[in-house]
Amino acid sequence: MKKIKVTVLFGGQSSEHEVSRVSAQSVLENMDIERFDIRMVGITKTGEWLEYKGDISLIGTGEWEGVARQQLLDKAGSNKRFLTAPPSCVDLVSFKDEEDQNIGVDVVFPVLHGPNGEDGSVQGLLQLAGVPYVGCNILASAAGMDKEFSKLVFKNAGIPQANYIKVMRSEIKGSMPFLINSVTEKLGWPCFVKPANAGSSVGVSKVKDPQDLEAALLSAAKYDSKILIEEFIRGREIECAVLGNENPIASTVGEIVPCNDFYDYNAKYIDGKSETIIPADLPSHIVEQVQDYSIRAFKALGCSGLSRVDFFVCEDGRVVLNEINTMPGFTSISMYSKLWEASGIPYPELITKLIELAFEKYEQDIRSYERD
Ligand SMILES: Nc1ncnc2c1ncn2[C@@H]1O[C@H](COP(=O)(O)OP(=O)(O)O)[C@@H](O)[C@H]1O
Ligand SMILES: [Mg+2]
Repeated sequence: MKKIKVTVLFGGQSSEHEVSRVSAQSVLENMDIERFDIRMVGITKTGEWLEYKGDISLIGTGEWEGVARQQLLDKAGSNKRFLTAPPSCVDLVSFKDEEDQNIGVDVVFPVLHGPNGEDGSVQGLLQLAGVPYVGCNILASAAGMDKEFSKLVFKNAGIPQANYIKVMRSEIKGSMPFLINSVTEKLGWPCFVKPANAGSSVGVSKVKDPQDLEAALLSAAKYDSKILIEEFIRGREIECAVLGNENPIASTVGEIVPCNDFYDYNAKYIDGKSETIIPADLPSHIVEQVQDYSIRAFKALGCSGLSRVDFFVCEDGRVVLNEINTMPGFTSISMYSKLWEASGIPYPELITKLIELAFEKYEQDIRSYERD
């Protein structure tokens, strides 16, 4: 059987660059090498796309970049910049072999988190290049990344969420008394402040004291010009994985028990003390509610391939959607693969399935295009 040529993209120009590298290393370690001919392309923080031919274990540590640069300088090597500015679609879908012949790419797996990767930008590039890719299309990626737009879509789908106030970066200075009053009236204290477009909890703060609101807004404003102030939801953090295209399935649900006051960046990636409980100890009707909302959210946003949907489950049994992640973390401690493992799909099989779904989606899109 001819191997399928898969290009894995990692890194990216985002505050989640490091997380993406760890995710990609984990995906690469679990890919079926009998089936896939794997190529790796790392996107540096400055936006260079470098083909990488070294050891997978150097991706997580960041040492890959030095190796890739050295290979680039080494005339004997066939490495090259995979994508240079301005984006070249020809370069995007071909690699050169030792004889300088083009080698095609069958499918791309963009293991990229956050802006400039998970937000439709890279998906747009892949769409233009006419290459199938794993995960959501441009619209679902962009709307899923933007916490305000996804809220609007989920509200329309009848899914409960935290109330919020939108603030633009330019509005912070000079409107603090007004904003503090609005929070007191509409949301109450404590509240949560977060960038509308980010991830991995960067720029997210829990604000207990009105005096700290401005600092929290300015911190979130470092990551996005649009900021959300949200009502605090006291609840357990429950996550559900979704897999499929038009008829997606939901996994069993898991619980995150953060080691800090909330699931901040340290609790996620640094301290290593946050706990993951799979399956979550919840009554079956709550699990079903979470799964139903997850599928509804996935369909409402027009997702394809995969997404992880995150919730709060309150003491009174209320299920509140927190956010969707269209390219969830894939590190060894990440929920997405663990949830599927617990639901009967081992990690290598999950990756194969995601690649098959990418081809299925591509075929469907081609057909609808041809019909027009
Ligand atoms: N409205 C909220 N009520 C309670 N906790 C929240 C709220 N919003 C966020 N959090 C806490 O902050 C964490 C990160 O926020 P989230 O919106 O998921 O951002 P990110 O996209 O960066 O993961 C959540 O996992 C949760 O612990
Ligand atoms: Mg989150």
